[in-house]
Parts: sequence; structure tokens; C-alpha cells
Amino acid sequence: MEVPTPSSGESGWSRMASSLPVRNVQDLAASGEELTAETLARLFDPQFAEQEAAHLRFACEDWGFFQLVNHGIPEEIITNVRNDIRKFFQLPLEVKNAYAQLPGNIQGYGQSFVMSESQTLDWSDMLGILTQPPQARDMRYWPSHQPHTFRKSIEDYSSELMKVSHSIVTFIAKTLNIDPKLMEDKYVSQFLRMNYYPPCKAMADKVLGFSPHSDGSFFTLLLEVNSVQGLQIKRHNAWIPVKPNPKALLVNVGDYLEIMSNGKYKSIEHRVTINTNQERMTVSAFHVPSLGGVISPVTGITEEKMFYKTMGVEEYAKLYMSNKLDGKRALDHAKLL
Ligand code: OGA
Ligand code: NI
Repeated sequence: MEVPTPSSGESGWSRMASSLPVRNVQDLAASGEELTAETLARLFDPQFAEQEAAHLRFACEDWGFFQLVNHGIPEEIITNVRNDIRKFFQLPLEVKNAYAQLPGNIQGYGQSFVMSESQTLDWSDMLGILTQPPQARDMRYWPSHQPHTFRKSIEDYSSELMKVSHSIVTFIAKTLNIDPKLMEDKYVSQFLRMNYYPPCKAMADKVLGFSPHSDGSFFTLLLEVNSVQGLQIKRHNAWIPVKPNPKALLVNVGDYLEIMSNGKYKSIEHRVTINTNQERMTVSAFHVPSLGGVISPVTGITEEKMFYKTMGVEEYAKLYMSNKLDGKRALDHAKLL
């Protein structure tokens, strides 16, 4: 895979090239198991902190996925970001194309992980932008006047998410019995991807909005822009639909956290199915370490044996992109046999 040399002012994360998806046929989702709901406010409340931390540990160990309610992000900020994302995707194609992805850059409007013209695409469009740290932003990809509040909405939402991330990391460290400082540099960059899944009458049972994958992040925070079902998570070899909850952020463990926790917390495989008559919109926020660093199991968790290699963050990112959308295969390369 070729990764173009970064030009000045562009962050390394935005220059990671994308890769090939593999088309999958939709499985039948059966189970209606409920996801764990974590209350951020409770994690801070001494009266509930212990109990809530135990919940969180269970959610990360057993599910790799949880809903976060009472996350503290002001309702107005959520409403604004939802409205502006919806408005952006409603724009005519030529207007959206003003923000089109440039070759070799994962930022901008287009499709994710397109590596060749002969591949079958997932049934979705996206707008990706690097949002944190602020100095890494490339404003060419940030819609400026349609809708005119877009930049502010994104900026407000992005900085609120950083606060939430900080709390999540603090508590994740607690559940792993390690110093949160050891994880502090692991979520410094934030990449937002706004996803649009059009309805598809004819082929809803044959195409996927997003093929099975685990996220190449430390963790991901997903907000559903509208309440249309589509996300499914793989648990005990079955696909479980996640019921939309407008009040929640969905949090999932990513590959970097799996490595750092020495496999105690597993990144979860998930996918998106297509609805026959309703469009679906989401925004995922990938919290990622800085590309220059390394990633390895954290000392203190690794009492017995290390199950993962020490790897450059960038090295892993390239591996991830080249294996992308093929379940969890990229992680296999990070495992020690
Ligand atoms: C992703 C993802 C799920 C969704 O962006 O990595 O899994 O429901 N999105 O949009
Ligand atoms: Ni994902």
C-alpha cells in the first residue's frame, strides 16, 4: 500500500490511505439482548462509583460495547450537530463534492476504504474530518456555509467528546487497575466520520451499509443522527441489532485498547445493515493515539504473559487500512503466538 508523503500542515492521520472492503451477505439477526447502559454521572458519584466501575469492567470485558447515557453533553450541542449533519447530506451532490476526498487522504466527502475501481462498495457515503488536536485540522474539508453553522456545531461537539473521552479513559484505567496517565496519550487525536446510509428497497438483504470490522481506534464514540436501526454487533458468533437510543452515545472498544489491555478488553466486530425505506445517519468519533507513538500492552496488566507485540501506532494503522473491513484480521498481526 502506498502512503503519500505528508505535506506540511497535514496530520499524519489524515494521510493514511484507505483500503478494500469485502462484500458480505446479510445474516439474520435474531437475539434481542440488551446492551449495558453506563451512566457517566454515576461513575463520578462516590455513592455509585464502585458499582458503576464494576459495570463498566463487565461491559468492556464481556461486550466490548456499551451505551453511555447521562454523558453530560448539552442537549443543544447534540441537536445542532444532528441538524447540521442531516442538512449537509441533503445538499445536492455537486455542493457536497466541493469537499470531496483527495487521493490518498481519508478526509473529505466520498466513500470509505475504496482501494480499487473493481471492488463492490458498501452502501454508504461519508464525510470524514480530523477534528483533534485543533492544530491538525484541515479546514478545506469542513463545510463552511452550507449549513453555515456546520463548523461551529462540529467544533462544539468535538470538544465535548474530548471531555467525555477523558472521563472514559480515567474509568477504564481504574477498571484495569492502572494509572490513567499511562493511557493519556492514547486518545489525543480524534477523527469524525459522518455516515449516510441510503435506504435500498431492492437490495436491502444483499448489501451492507458497512461491512464487518472492528475499529482501528483506542475507542469510538458513536452518535446516531436519526433513530433508524442498522448497527449490529457480533456476540457469541451471532449478529445482534442495537436498538437506537437517542439519549445515548455508543462506545466501543477499538483495536488499540485491546492491545493495551493485553486482550482483557476486546475490540468488537460490528457492521451496518440497510433499511428498505429509511435513510440512516450517524457520526462516529474515533479516538486514536498520535501516529508517532508506539502501542503495547501496559505494564501492570501483563502479570503473566504478553499476548500482543509492541508496534508503532503508524505501523498498526497501515496494517489496519490494508486489511480493512475484513472482520478483525488486522489484529491477528499484532498478536504474539
Ligand atoms: C464506523 C461504524 C457504525 C454506524 O463508523 O466505524 O462502525 O452505525 N459505524 O454508522
Ligand atoms: Ni466501526
